[in-house]
Amino acid sequence: IRVAVVFGGRSSEHAISCLTAGSVMAAIDRDRYEIVPIGIATDGRWVLAPEDQRLSIQDGKLPEVDSAGAALALPFDPAGRGLMVVEPGRVPRTLGEVDVVLPLLHGPYGEDGTIQGLLDLVGVRYVGAGVLASAAGMDKGFMKVIWAGQGLPVGPYVAVTERDWRRERKRVIDEIKELGLPVFVKPARAGSSMGISKVDSEGDLDAAVEAAREHDPKVIVEAAIDGREIECGVLQGLGDDPAEASLPSEVNVADGHDFYDFEAKYLDDGLRLDIPPRLPAEVIEEVRRLAVRAFDALGCEGLARVDFFYTSDGRLLLNEINTMPGFTPASAFPKMWAASGLDYPALVDRLIQTALS
Ligand code: DAL
Ligand code: MG
Repeated sequence: IRVAVVFGGRSSEHAISCLTAGSVMAAIDRDRYEIVPIGIATDGRWVLAPEDQRLSIQDGKLPEVDSAGAALALPFDPAGRGLMVVEPGRVPRTLGEVDVVLPLLHGPYGEDGTIQGLLDLVGVRYVGAGVLASAAGMDKGFMKVIWAGQGLPVGPYVAVTERDWRRERKRVIDEIKELGLPVFVKPARAGSSMGISKVDSEGDLDAAVEAAREHDPKVIVEAAIDGREIECGVLQGLGDDPAEASLPSEVNVADGHDFYDFEAKYLDDGLRLDIPPRLPAEVIEEVRRLAVRAFDALGCEGLARVDFFYTSDGRLLLNEINTMPGFTPASAFPKMWAASGLDYPALVDRLIQTALS
């Protein structure tokens, strides 16, 4: 079975995708699967990645797809489901068909339905959510609209479009003030906490919105929730079985981090996961039930990680969903599944098998 592993990409989560891909490729059973590693450089070029690429953090430096001098790969050949390789001065050659693509990409141009659409167009199977679920799951505004529309609990927020910010800034600021400070200001379509700031005073709002807008012209402002952060993994069921939830995890951020920011996530051991969290059994069951409902509400496939707040007055609120959650050794998604009886290689295998079935 030939698996094209696509990683890197144009989004600000390029490096995280490389880390994810490095761990997944190391875990894939090479007796059963042949891997074709395809890197997408930050400039968007697709390259046939060398086997000996470095896809881990070294000396605190994050990995990156190196496209200098590499053979260019095209996503498909005109005759069908394969990949093509183009090298300078040589006739383009086909890599032959691939059976399944693992789009291990986080963020825009990867987790947002764009590559999923490309793969649908050429008829190649892939792991994970389709176009609509990927697009809705990338957008912190639309995911809430869909969940609220199906009666699922979401927190108060204000969506700020590019036009709102240019033409109606005063109204927007008034709406945000109604949420009450502090608020979290987030790019609507980004991940790994990129571009997010916590705002405690009105005077800092403008700068926070501008910082978020560097990642996405659409910005979401959320009321800060007084509560604990709980995450839960979801996998598509086998055959016609319903989706399954893992044991949840509680995210505890170390001192020195104002919230679960990029450094806490990846760089400095700023994180402790409790799997399962110290919560009453019925709350844990409710997290798992809501995680599956959130997954189904968006029409997700394959996998997702659903993030919650458990408020100090005992309510569960959906925070967000990630249709291609981080898959590094430190990531919550594989750890939650390992604690639920599915270890890392078995999890990767299950994802590929689900996509092929
Ligand atoms: N967006 C990162 C990779 C995550 O959700 O895990
Ligand atoms: Mg995220």
